[in-house]
Parts: sequence; C-alpha cells; structure tokens
Amino acid sequence: MKPELSDPSLLRTTSYVAGRWMAAAGNSLTATNPATGAAVAEVSMVTRSETEAAISAAHEAMSGWRDVPAKARAQILRRWFDLMMAHQEDLAIIMTTEQGKALAESRGEVAYGAAFMEWFGEQAKRIDGDVIPAPSSDKRVLCIKQPVGVVAAITPWNFPNAMIARKAAPALAAGCSIVIKPASETPLSALAMAELAERAGVPAGVLNVVVGASSEIGPALTDSPLVRKLTFTGSTEVGRRLEQACAATLKRTSMELGGNAPFIVFDDADIDAAVQGALISKYRNSGQTCVCTNRIFVQDTIHDVFVDKLVAATAELKMGNGLDEGVQQGPLVNEKAVEDVDRLVRLSTEAGAQVALGGMRSDLGPCYYQPTVLTGITSDMAVFRNEIFGPVAPVMSFADEAEAIALANDTEFGLASYFYTRDIGRVWRVSEALDYGMVGVNEGIISNEMAPFGGVKASGSGREGSKYGIDDYLEIKYILMGGLDR
Ligand code: SIN
Repeated sequence: MKPELSDPSLLRTTSYVAGRWMAAAGNSLTATNPATGAAVAEVSMVTRSETEAAISAAHEAMSGWRDVPAKARAQILRRWFDLMMAHQEDLAIIMTTEQGKALAESRGEVAYGAAFMEWFGEQAKRIDGDVIPAPSSDKRVLCIKQPVGVVAAITPWNFPNAMIARKAAPALAAGCSIVIKPASETPLSALAMAELAERAGVPAGVLNVVVGASSEIGPALTDSPLVRKLTFTGSTEVGRRLEQACAATLKRTSMELGGNAPFIVFDDADIDAAVQGALISKYRNSGQTCVCTNRIFVQDTIHDVFVDKLVAATAELKMGNGLDEGVQQGPLVNEKAVEDVDRLVRLSTEAGAQVALGGMRSDLGPCYYQPTVLTGITSDMAVFRNEIFGPVAPVMSFADEAEAIALANDTEFGLASYFYTRDIGRVWRVSEALDYGMVGVNEGIISNEMAPFGGVKASGSGREGSKYGIDDYLEIKYILMGGLDR
C-alpha cells in the first residue's frame, strides 16, 4: 500500500471468526482505490456456512463475555480506543485508499470512531437497574438490564470505521457478542479494526468480521434464531427488506437509513456562517453521508447573495486523490455512484433547474463528479425527492417560515435537518416543527459520540451514540420478590 503503513500487519485480507483469521480460500473481492482505479488488495470472501460458524462462535463466546464485570469490559474498550488513536494515521491511509475520502476526513473519522469505544466503555459502568415501589409490603420490585444477545451488524462504505464503532462499542459494552458484515467496498478498514480489537483483548468469538456477498451473509444473519438483534446502516430500500427478513425470528432491529436533509437559511441569519455550514454539511465525504444537506432553502430576500457566496466558496474546494496534500474533495466511491448523481442532475436540469456551478463529471477520472450548485429547484424535481449522495447542492427560495417548514417536511425521510437564524423564538418554533430526528441550529455538523444519532419516518428507528445508544443492546428484566414479611 502507498503510502506505506507504519504497521503493515494492520492490512488483513481474510475474515476474522472465533478469534482466528480464516485461511484464504474460494472467491475473493478486490478492494479498489476509486481515485486511481488501482487494485489495493484481494480479500477472500466467506459464504453462508462460515457466517453460520461466526454466529455459533459469537453465541458460545457470549456466555463468558456477559459475565465479565462491566469495569473489565470498559478497560478492553478503552484499550481498543487507545490502539485506534495510536494507529490513526495507518487506519486513515487504509480508509482513504479503499474509500476515497480526503485523508484529513479519514483521520477525523478514525477519531470519531474511536470516541465510541471510549464513550461506551464508560457507559458500560452505568448500566443501572431500578428498584420500583412495590404493590404490597411483602414484595419488592426490581429491574435489571441484560445484554440482548448475539448482535449482527451490517455496515456501510461511507464511514468504514465509525459505523462499525458506533455499533460494536455499545454491543460489547452491554455484554453482547457481535458478527459484523462490512460493505464489500471497504473491507480493509473493518479488518484492521478487528486486528486492533484482538490486540486490545476482546476475547475470541466476541467480535467477528465476515467479508463476502450480501446474498450469502445477509440471509445467514437474518434467518438465524441465535441472532437476537440486527443493526443496519444503509439505504431505506435495503432496510425495509432486512426488517421483513428479521420478522420471522422477531429480532430487535435498529435501522439508520436514508436522509433528505433540509438546510434552511432565514433572512436574519449570519449569511457567511450559513455558507460555511452549508459547505461542510453538503460536501463532507463528497456528499456521501446520510446527514448531508440535500436541499437548501433560502429566504427570497437573501437568495441571490447566498447563492453567489455559496458558488464562490464551492468553487474553491480542492478536488483530487484523497491522499494528496490539501485535497478536500475525493472521488465518489465508484463509477455507479457517479452515474447515479449525474442522472439526478440531468433529470433536474431537464425539468428546469439551472446549473450555477459544476453539473458534470470531472476529467480527473471516472469516479469524480464536480462540486455542483443548482438553482431554480422545485419540489417535483429528482434532486428534491431523492437522496443525492454526491456533491450537489440544490437551492430553492421560500417566502416565509411556514413555507420553509412545509417544504422541509415534504419528504418521506426524517434524519438530519439544519437551519440558520438569529431569532430565539424561531429557533424553538422551527426546531419543534421539523419532522426529523436531529436538528442543527446554526451548525452544519452535528454528529458526535455523546449525542443521539437517528431518524424518524423512512429514515429508520433506534438511536446510536449518547446515553441512549446502549439501550438498543439491552433487555429489561423485571423481578418481583414476594413473601418478604413471612
Ligand atoms: C452516515 O452517513 O450514516 C453517518 C454520518 C455521521 O455519523 O455523521
């Protein structure tokens, strides 16, 4: 790998099951650098039977792991955090090489991912129960919390590290074991994390990573009665299918699905701050996040000045190979992603949208798309209705607060939303009126390990991170003790 890793043993190319790196066998997939099209590594793929072996290993390991005292589980998670931070640069290089994002963003993502290990390690010691008033004097009522069981996690390519961390950390903190299926585009980041988990002292079988085709691994995870919970980050379409597949065994599920984030700029806002917020929220990871701004609504009195400033700032973004110094916009993950973005832009311009900047593929290579600003958007256009997942900022004007809220909520999705204003009354009114799981007020980046991440409507269910994030991995057991005054 170029640049060379300080610790080349982080580059693992086989699945990790029951504390063993599986022998390379059968089919393999090629991890590819989207910036250059070059093959980075061949990673051998497992099938359904090896996934079932991983589930059995996780089931067996769970009985020991759940009995490890919370403090000891916390210490292992803390060691995992320390190792991730000690290897931040190598993990970032691996990530940028297989996913494309700018190296500075990859470094940030490793720190973001590691923060979940630290946070949930701390939370492991706070899995408190309750003593509840009893119905009569001879009784006592208690609640204890216990791990939900073996967890299956299906994770996306856009955050190859942090989305694993945000699921594995609370699972392990709660005393669950886990089988992780990372995206086929980004297996190397997942396997490097497993290598560090092993070094941190996560016992064999407690954490397993299986790389392979969704058609092999997915049904093994959803069909197994041993898997008690499935957590998924990805598209709404796949989330719906997984929910259906989990229904037969009545698994608990957490679904972090698609978004269509509105970004509203009111005429009392600090316009320069709003432009900076839009820039970071729209173009983070080249527009490939579920919380990326998808539709920008600007009050008509400031529309033109906002657009001019946004276009000027967007034109300054440096695009190129994410490993190169100063690059802010890497390639999209693959050519299909570019085709999808291009199609949404074409459909919208054919329907009347105007291109204020970009609007086409870049000559840097087949996976690059120019940072784009579109104006004259209407609510029937493809870029209004669909999650763009690329560096395209559609701008639309509105007349008043009521119209802005109506436009923002005119979508099946409900993940992240943003607005800029300096009116404190409006801050409350709009925050409460937006039909979304998360609201950024005068901020374009809202994610951190201490805050609850998640959506409503077609954006899914469950919360990740924060003090609430561990609840999805715990069952509440009620104990009634009677006959106490005999
Ligand atoms: C995502 O796009 O799924 C996650 C984004 C984040 O955690 O900020």
